[in-house]
Amino acid sequence: MATVAAQQARTAEPTAETTAERAAVHAVHAVPEVHAVQRSATPRRYLMCRPTHFAVTYAINPWMNPAVPVDTALAVRQWEQLRELYLSLGHQVDLIDPVPGLPDMVYAANGATVVDGRVLGARFHHPERAAEGSAYLDWFRAAGFADVHDPQHVNEGEGDFLVVGGWILAAQGFRTRPEAHAEAQDYFGRPVVGLRLVDPDYYHLDTALAVLDGDQVMYYPGAFSPGSQAVLARLFPDALQATAEDAAVLGLNAVSDGRHVILSQAATGLAAQLAARGFEPLGVDLSELLKGGGSAKCCTLELRS
Ligand code: ARG
Repeated sequence: MATVAAQQARTAEPTAETTAERAAVHAVHAVPEVHAVQRSATPRRYLMCRPTHFAVTYAINPWMNPAVPVDTALAVRQWEQLRELYLSLGHQVDLIDPVPGLPDMVYAANGATVVDGRVLGARFHHPERAAEGSAYLDWFRAAGFADVHDPQHVNEGEGDFLVVGGWILAAQGFRTRPEAHAEAQDYFGRPVVGLRLVDPDYYHLDTALAVLDGDQVMYYPGAFSPGSQAVLARLFPDALQATAEDAAVLGLNAVSDGRHVILSQAATGLAAQLAARGFEPLGVDLSELLKGGGSAKCCTLELRS
C-alpha cells in the first residue's frame, strides 16, 4: 500500500516546466488544470494500552470466541508495531498500565472521549469491562487533565463517539445509550448527531466509520439503519463508501492524521480508494487483536487538546 501511495506522490510532483510555460500551454490548448490533492498530516497525541493481559475469555461481540487460541506474545508484537508506526509518523503516544483481569483494556479507544482537553469518561455496557471505566478515569486525573467527567449513562468512548469537524457523531444500538449522546452534547458543547447501528458485527461506530480529515469520512452503509444511512448521505455526500469485504476485515477501524491512514492490511480495496483520494494508506497486521473484535482504531484513543 505504502508503495502505491509513494508512487502517486512522485507522479504528483511538479515538473521542471516553469509557470510561464505552463500558462502558455494552457492558453493555447485550454487544458483544464489538474489539482493533485495534497493531504497534510497534523501531529496527534494518542493513548494506548499494551496487551500484556490480552486474551479472549468471554464473548461480548460476534468476533470473540473463547475456544479459538490467542497468541498474547504475538498480540504484543503487533501492537508494538502499531505504536512504533505512530512514533515514526511524529505522533506522541502515552501509555496506560494494563490491569490484570481486564483483557479488553488494550482497546483504549473505549476508555474515554477527549475533546478540547476535556475528558468524558466511559461507562461500559458489559460487566466484564466495567472496571476499565475507573482505570481510565484514574489515568486522566493522574496525567493532569483538569476537567474529567464521570458519566451518568453508558458510553464506550471513541468506540461510539467520533469527532468530525466541529461536532460529534454518536452511535446507539449495541453499547452506548442515546441518553449518553445528550450527556456528551451538554458536556462538550458541541452538536452531537445520533446514528443507529444495526449489524452486530459492527457493534461500535468505529468499526463502521472512520474520520479521515476535517469533515471527510469513510463508512460502510450496511452497518447503519436506513434512516441513519440517509443522514450520512445527507451530511457526507462525497464520502468514501467501503465494500462489505473491506468492512469485514475491520478496514474501517482506521486511524487518520489527515494524510496517513493506518488500517488493516487486509483491506486492500479500501487502501486503493484512499490512495485515489490522495491519502497514504499504511497497512498493519493486528490478527490477534482482531480476535477480540478490534483493529488499529480500537487500540488508539486520541487526546485532543
Ligand atoms: N472486545 C471488545 C468489546 O467487545 C472490543 C472493543 C473494540 N473497540 C472498539 N473501539 N471498537 O468491547
